Amino acid sequence: MNDASNHHTHTGRDSFGSSFGILVALAGSAVGLGNLWRFPYLVGENGGAAFILIYLAFVFLIGMPIMLSEFVVGRRSQSSARGAYQKLAPDGKWGFAGSLAIVCCILILSFYSVVGGWGIEYLFKAFRFDFTKGDQAALSSMFSTFASSSWQPLICHTLFLLASGIIVILGVKNGIERFSKVMMPVLFVIMIGIAIRSLTLPGAREGIEYLFKPDWSAVTADTFLDALGQAFFSLSLGSGMVITYGSYVSRKENIVSLSAKTAIADTLFAMIAGCAIMPAVFAFGISPGEGPGLVFITLPHIFSQLPFGGVIAILFFVALLLAALTSSISLLEVIVAFSIEEFKMKRRTAVMLTLVVLWVLGCLCSLSQGVLSDWKFFGKTVFDLFDFVSANVLMLAGGLLVVIFAGWKLGRKIIHDELSNSGALKIPVWFVDTLSFLIRFLAPVAIIVIAVFQWI
Ligand code: PHE
Repeated sequence: MNDASNHHTHTGRDSFGSSFGILVALAGSAVGLGNLWRFPYLVGENGGAAFILIYLAFVFLIGMPIMLSEFVVGRRSQSSARGAYQKLAPDGKWGFAGSLAIVCCILILSFYSVVGGWGIEYLFKAFRFDFTKGDQAALSSMFSTFASSSWQPLICHTLFLLASGIIVILGVKNGIERFSKVMMPVLFVIMIGIAIRSLTLPGAREGIEYLFKPDWSAVTADTFLDALGQAFFSLSLGSGMVITYGSYVSRKENIVSLSAKTAIADTLFAMIAGCAIMPAVFAFGISPGEGPGLVFITLPHIFSQLPFGGVIAILFFVALLLAALTSSISLLEVIVAFSIEEFKMKRRTAVMLTLVVLWVLGCLCSLSQGVLSDWKFFGKTVFDLFDFVSANVLMLAGGLLVVIFAGWKLGRKIIHDELSNSGALKIPVWFVDTLSFLIRFLAPVAIIVIAVFQWI
């Protein structure tokens, strides 16, 4: 029965089953390592609350319009990222914008699954109460020894990819949606619990101030680029994710409210993660600017000193893994949906082939932390290069292209038609006007200005 309903059209397109399912799948994609691993260390490196405020402004003024543009393109075309552009603009050469999104997802997932793999290892370590044995220096060398070794991280990376692959093979409704429906609520409950523990530590106050009292002197041009890159990364924008998931959404759903709820859930989750991490960091007198090692070194150090820290460590790494998985399946789905559609592959074949490519690239990322650390491109290791190129270049380019496409090629009428479900929903005129302005002018100009600033 399920199989039949999954393949109800001749193209065999799968789709989501319920509004709640769409929301948790979208929020599942958005909430991920970006919130738990990237956001806290970027906040730490960029001086706290000022960065957060710039980030918030970007999420709502630039992120939301891009998300809606992607939604319009995806739902209207009912196609994967590349097909969507080609279907809506058959005359043009817009297919490359879709191809760019596929490349972007491949690069992201390559290093994402390495970090996801670190999460698996750290969950095991948490179960073995490994963190209780060391001080900060010991934990720091534990992390670098592990991440730079050749075999262990590769095994974990493989496991993480396989787990994502299994869910995606099951399909959109039976895999992605079903998994997200269970995991997202669990994830929220765990993180709120940890945030409460952290906020009630003696000395937590300084961490709260750090998160909410801006220090503008720490802001530089780079802060803006980091904040925009993070808004894109965290909302999964410019990667074709919203186009792809949007193509599985029925014409009856309200895409404005879905986008707003997704952006709010993601932002809320980033703030909860910040409240779980920063107060504890300050309570233990640790510097927040530790960089990417923050959750793998600093947090275990804190767990080792907290009462019941062993249990909290387990919960934290369970949360990290769940968050990572609900995002990695969305990245994988973008590539798989493209392969199914473009090369007429079976879902299973598409998943397996994609995993092989990702596995190889991921191995390079992982080894670039150790034996391949001398392989530098533009002064960056493979890992850092993939992160930088995807978040700070390809996602921005993808976002720029999608707003130009939606705003100028499709135009206001089609946008209005999609937002209002062809008139079934009453969307106020001022809203469409404001949104068109953001899509046509503000978002593209902001992206270009910020991107140009990084080169000068
Ligand atoms: N938004 C995810 C995170 O924050 C990462 C992601 C990017 C997922 C692009 C899908 C597409 O971890």
